[in-house]
Amino acid sequence: MEAIDDLIKQFLKELNYEPILEMLSNVRSGKKLRSKLLLAIAGESKESLKICAAIELIHLASLLHDDIIDESNLRRGSKSVNYEFGTKNALMLGDILYSKAFYELSQMNARFASIISDAVVKLAIGELMDVNLSKNFNTDKEKYLTMIYNKTAVLIEASAKCGAILAGYDESSFGEYGKNLGLAFQMVDDILDIKGDDKTLGKPAMADFKEGKTTLPYIYLFENLDKEEKVKLKNLFRKDLNEEENLWIKTRFKEKEILEKSVLEVKKYTKNAIDAIDKYSNQKLKDIVKAITDRDF
Ligand code: IPE
Ligand code: IPE
Ligand code: MG
Ligand code: MG
Ligand code: MG
Repeated sequence: MEAIDDLIKQFLKELNYEPILEMLSNVRSGKKLRSKLLLAIAGESKESLKICAAIELIHLASLLHDDIIDESNLRRGSKSVNYEFGTKNALMLGDILYSKAFYELSQMNARFASIISDAVVKLAIGELMDVNLSKNFNTDKEKYLTMIYNKTAVLIEASAKCGAILAGYDESSFGEYGKNLGLAFQMVDDILDIKGDDKTLGKPAMADFKEGKTTLPYIYLFENLDKEEKVKLKNLFRKDLNEEENLWIKTRFKEKEILEKSVLEVKKYTKNAIDAIDKYSNQKLKDIVKAITDRDF
């Protein structure tokens, strides 16, 4: 992971504009899930590390833009770039990171840039779907799944595919692995929004519903409430909740065992992921699946 951080630093230095380094100096390293996945498949080489660095730059760009969209002030335990330096800076910094990453990929086998750029188009479409879905109280699980596939799973799927190409493995099995893992990953993120706290998560907790996001747990909760309570939940949608309202939601989640139901859904997808690559019996890939489902940040 250090080698990837060093490459990222080198790429950023090559941009030759000091404010970029300044603005990013407070952004901590993330979990690097996508890189760990790619390296678990392909092993370490100059080429694989370079693709990881590009993917992490792209992921970071997507987070800079996501925090603008979600009006979030906390990322990786520090002030978000939009909060500290304003939307204009966060927006352009995101564009710079995307472009530098694609420049680096353009110097390699064209297949990598092709897979990853296709994923980034879908990621942006997924963020648009998320924005549009959050205008109203969405209760349609299929729409939720399509949205999270695009905004989150496609980049994880692309990382797995690039790893498979590097290793000479079957791209589609690994794509299937990455896709299912990516869906599970976003579901866990949506569960942690409810279960976690700001400090552990390094980003604001209980933020999704206030932003209009009826994630999987909210869809399940709605399905399990009686008529009166359904109306009450809808009335709290997109609101800055007071303590009593927050407690009402959290108690309903407990009472109806909603997070447990959501975890069961996560397990379906992690099982699909493991099944897709079963014949490769790679323990590292199984460990990654476990790390994703058991994480608390
Ligand atoms: C956060 O991704 C955004 C989602 C797709 C849920 P990560 O949880 O991988 O973020 P970092 O890089 O570890 O901070
Ligand atoms: C973000 O989803 C997915 C992408 C960055 C494309 P979220 O909005 O749930 O991510 P967090 O919770 O802010 O990390
Ligand atoms: Mg967000
Ligand atoms: Mg978002
Ligand atoms: Mg989230």
